[in-house]
Amino acid sequence: MEHRIADSLKILTEADKEACETVRISENEPLSGKKRLFIESYGCQMNYSDSEIVASVMRDAGFATTSDVNNADLIFLNTCAIRDNAEQKVRKRLKQLNLLKKQRPGTLIGILGCMAERVKAQLLDEEKMVDIVTGPDAYRDLPRLVDEAETGQKGVNVFLSREETYADISPIRLNSNGVTALISIMRGCDNMCSFCVVPFTRGRERSRDPYSIIKEAEDLFKEGYREVTLLGQNVDSYKWQPEAGTGSNEGIVNFARLLELVAQVSPELRVRFSTSHPKDITDEVLYTIKKYDNICKYIHLPAQSGNSRVLELMNRTYTREWYMERIDSIRRILGEDCGVSHDMIAGFCTETEEEHQDSMSLMTYANFDFGYMFAYSERPGTLAAKKFKDDIPEDVKKRRLAEIIEVQQRISLIRNQRMIGTIQKVLVEGPSKRSDNDLSGRSDNNKVVVFPRENFRKGEYVDVLITECSPATLKGKAVSEVAV
Ligand code: SAH
Ligand code: SF4
Ligand code: F3S
Repeated sequence: MEHRIADSLKILTEADKEACETVRISENEPLSGKKRLFIESYGCQMNYSDSEIVASVMRDAGFATTSDVNNADLIFLNTCAIRDNAEQKVRKRLKQLNLLKKQRPGTLIGILGCMAERVKAQLLDEEKMVDIVTGPDAYRDLPRLVDEAETGQKGVNVFLSREETYADISPIRLNSNGVTALISIMRGCDNMCSFCVVPFTRGRERSRDPYSIIKEAEDLFKEGYREVTLLGQNVDSYKWQPEAGTGSNEGIVNFARLLELVAQVSPELRVRFSTSHPKDITDEVLYTIKKYDNICKYIHLPAQSGNSRVLELMNRTYTREWYMERIDSIRRILGEDCGVSHDMIAGFCTETEEEHQDSMSLMTYANFDFGYMFAYSERPGTLAAKKFKDDIPEDVKKRRLAEIIEVQQRISLIRNQRMIGTIQKVLVEGPSKRSDNDLSGRSDNNKVVVFPRENFRKGEYVDVLITECSPATLKGKAVSEVAV
C-alpha cells in the first residue's frame, strides 16, 4: 500500500519525548462509500504504534483512513499525559476541532490513549465536543463505542487489562517510510517511578508472545522494511513463559533471547529497541547486541538524575554508582562507539544545586550522544504528587533544564566530531528534510547521516565517509554500496 509521508518518521524518536510531534494518517485508500477516519498521535513511540493498531481495528469495522481532517467523519486524538504540557496541547487542539465540528455537526471526536485513561469520563464533562473516551487497552471496543456515539450516546471504555497485547492484530503502517517500523513487544509498566503517570495510564506490565513478534518482523522484512524497533516501557524485563499445563517444553524467552530471535530473521534487518531500564539491562543483553552485527549498537538508557538521593526519591531503584557501572559495562562490551542516550529530569522535588550538578557530571561521565531533557512536571495521582512537595520554583527548573541542555549540546558535538573521518554504514530512510538532492538515514549507532543522493535509494545500506557534523547531524559522502 502506498503511504505518503507527512512528517518524517525519524521524528518519532524525538516525538517520543518533548516534541509530541503530530503524525497523521495519510493513506491513499479509495474512500467511496466508506466513513472516513482521521487519527492524530501525540507522545511516545508506544502511542504511534498503538495508532497503527487502532487503524487496523477501524479498517476491519469498515472505515477508510484520511489525511484530511476537514473531510473526516471520525477524528481520533491518541493522547499523552506524561507532562502537563502534553495534555495542554491536546486541549488546545480540541478547541480547534470544536470549530470544525460546528461546521460539520455529524463529526465524532474520540480521545484515545494515556490522557483518556488518566482523566477518564470526566473528559466528557470538561470537553463537551468529545464523544468517545478510550484507554490504551480498550481499542478492540472502538467500533462498538463509535456505533454508540453515532446514536448520540457518549462512549467510554477505560478498562485496563492484564492480558491485552493486541498480538493478533496486524498494524496498518501509518506515515511509513517503508524502511523502518515499530513493533510493540510488551505493554504497561510495573516500575512505579514516583514522578511517572505511565503505570496509571497503561496498567500492569505484560509481554507479548514471541511467535507473533517474530512473524511481524518477518512480514515486515518481506514487505521491504529493513529496520524494526522493539518497543516497551522497560524492554529488559520482557519475559514470556509458555502457559503452564500446555505441555510445551519450550523455555522462557527473556529479552536477550527475543533480541536474538528477531536478529535471526535476516542479517539485513536492523534491530533496535527502546526503552532500557538501568536496573534491568543485563550483560547478557549487551553480549547479544555484540554477537549480531544487525542489532544496532545503540542504547537509550534513561538516567533521570545523577544523584543517588534524588534517584531514591524517584523510586528508580538504582544509584549513581550503579548507573555508572552499567555505562562502564556498555563501553567494555560494546566499545566507545556504541551510541548511548538518556532522559533527565531537572528540578525534581527537593533537588539541590549540588544534586543538579551531579546530573551534569553524570552526563559528562557517560558521554551521552544525545538526551531528552525535561523540567519536572507534577502529575496528579503519582507517588511524588502524594508524598513530596513540588518545591522547585518554575524559573529554577527552567534554568537547570537550560544548563543540562547546554552540557548535552557540548557533549553531542564532541561525540559527533569524533566520527569525522570514519566510514559509517547508513540505512537510507528517504530524502533529507532540507534538500531532495540529499538522502538521510541513520548509522548503526543511531546518528542521523545526510549525504548526496547520487543513485542511492531508500532501503539501501550505504557506506558513508563522514566529513562534517553539527550536534544533531552527520554529513558525508558515499564511498561505495555495501552488502550487509
Ligand atoms: N519507560 C521509560 C520512559 C517513559 S516516559 C523509562 O523508564 O525511562 C519518558 C520520559 O519522560 C521519562 O524517561 C522521563 O524522563 C520523562 N518524564 C516522565 N514523567 C515526567 C514528569 N512527571 N515530569 C517530567 N518528565 C517526566
Ligand atoms: Fe514511567 Fe518508570 Fe515505568 Fe518508565 S520505568 S514508564 S519512567 S514508571
Ligand atoms: Fe507514552 Fe505519553 Fe503514554 S509518553 S506511555 S503516550 S503518557
